Amino acid sequence: MKITVSSSIFKKGHAKMRLEGKVAIITGGGRGIGKAIALGMAGEGADIVITGRNEARLQQAEKEIKDVGVNTLAIKSDVSLMADIQDMVDKTIERFGQIDILVNNAAIYYPICPFLEKDEDSFDRITSVNFKGVYFCTQAVARHMVKRKYGKIININSDNARIGIPGLSDYAGAKGAMLALTRTIAAELSPLGINVNAIACGLTPTEGYMESNYPQELIDFFVGMAPLRRLGMPEDYVALAVLLASDDSSFITGQTIPVNGGASMP
Ligand SMILES: NC(=O)c1ccc[n+]([C@@H]2O[C@H](COP(=O)([O-])OP(=O)(O)OC[C@H]3O[C@@H](n4cnc5c(N)ncnc54)[C@H](O)[C@@H]3O)[C@@H](O)[C@H]2O)c1
Repeated sequence: MKITVSSSIFKKGHAKMRLEGKVAIITGGGRGIGKAIALGMAGEGADIVITGRNEARLQQAEKEIKDVGVNTLAIKSDVSLMADIQDMVDKTIERFGQIDILVNNAAIYYPICPFLEKDEDSFDRITSVNFKGVYFCTQAVARHMVKRKYGKIININSDNARIGIPGLSDYAGAKGAMLALTRTIAAELSPLGINVNAIACGLTPTEGYMESNYPQELIDFFVGMAPLRRLGMPEDYVALAVLLASDDSSFITGQTIPVNGGASMP
């Protein structure tokens, strides 16, 4: 077998928009990390669908993404509801005819609470959004992607899947399930043309994070663990999300890649 390295990808001035002609769905893309990823993918030429529960917020984000110069669609849709998931897929196909990229970003937090005091309601709500939602959004979108033998699934995970942090047992449990799901689905779908990867984010001051009232000592703990000695910012995750959504990642699948200032080094 003759082994060659294609020189075309290394040519000076070769750079082009990496997601031109692609359609990306970002769940929970109306604010925070999801919105940053939506804007970043729009900047690389992708048409963008954002979903979420808050109509006014979605419309504002839709306008900002449109201003980047791409086609944009905002869909009010709850990832924990099967009918909404199907509606999200149907509306995207109706408008754009295809789905190339799914970013499973939507998630909820609950205030820090000791394991011994957790109640069933908060457990059910967290797992239905943060795990069931990811599971069935991926299934609904992947059923479309397999027909075109092409797709990129990106799960937004957390350091909590690997690092034991007191008070986050249901959130961390759902993110741990996401870690396993990323590997399992990658094993099933990659031979069908779909790459499945995840980004494990570090602690990042977003509105969702603010609402969960993290105690200062926990913030100090995270920053202290990270050799880069700072919290993440939503923009910190965009470059990797774009890479994983692009054809440059064609040989990467099943991975959960930490972007966390070095707080964990698996
Ligand atoms: N901020 C952090 O410190 C941090 C750290 C690690 C991982 N993450 C992950 O990053 C992702 C984004 O988090 P964020 O901090 O930007 O949160 P955020 O709360 O600011 O944004 C989350 C978005 O998801 C949407 N959403 C929530 N429930 C939904 C549902 N049922 N259906 C549809 N949309 C829904 C919200 O409306 C919101 O737009 C999440 O998966 C989160 O677990 C965040």
